[in-house]
Amino acid sequence: MEFFLDTADVDEIREIASWGILDGVTTNPSLIKKSGRDFKTVVAEIASICDGPISAEVTALDTQGMVDQGRALKKELPENVIIKIPCTPEGLAATKILNSEGINTNVTLVFSAAQALMAAKAGATYVSPFIGRVDDTGSDGMTLIAEIMSTWENYDIKTKVLAASIRHPTHVLACMQLGAHTVTMPTKTFRQLMKHPLTDKGLEGFLKDWAEVEAAGNA
Ligand code: E4P
Repeated sequence: MEFFLDTADVDEIREIASWGILDGVTTNPSLIKKSGRDFKTVVAEIASICDGPISAEVTALDTQGMVDQGRALKKELPENVIIKIPCTPEGLAATKILNSEGINTNVTLVFSAAQALMAAKAGATYVSPFIGRVDDTGSDGMTLIAEIMSTWENYDIKTKVLAASIRHPTHVLACMQLGAHTVTMPTKTFRQLMKHPLTDKGLEGFLKDWAEVEAAGNA
């Protein structure tokens, strides 16, 4: 299982990377806008912090434009950058071409098992179903992950399922229980996964008692 961060905030990425369990980072045009920084500069910096796959998204809508952007990003940015492509017919064709050139891809904005399957057929390295945005429509985002994972079980599909648009730790745990290969989550969710009040309380008690052990000269 892989844990990715879904942010373009390098300070947050540095913090989580320091925990030693960060496997990759996803960005998108909205996250780049939020960072307020130059696209390529910030992606290159992220790629220097985390050596796992770093998704950089193309913005062209036609196949040739996506392929050109993907090739250029691969040329200009560090080796671990992969190309994020929207799940459209043009995106499928671009994925197929980039895959044939050995360029890893992440097909994004996936909202159905059928779309995930099409992206896998095109040779996507990752497919990104968006759980939270499905939840936002009143449907169940986890059902989407369950449908994709059960479809995957029938075939020898190499494409990894990267659960995205995660809103809370329960999404992450449910994805892992369904066997999703990867989850990408906001920093807040990453922190929430580690936090437990009983851990804090227990540690406080142990340290207080240890101070008394030291004070008694028994350390
Ligand atoms: C995935 O790679 C996307 O960047 C992301 O998960 C979108 O999440 P949102 O629905 O919170 O914007």
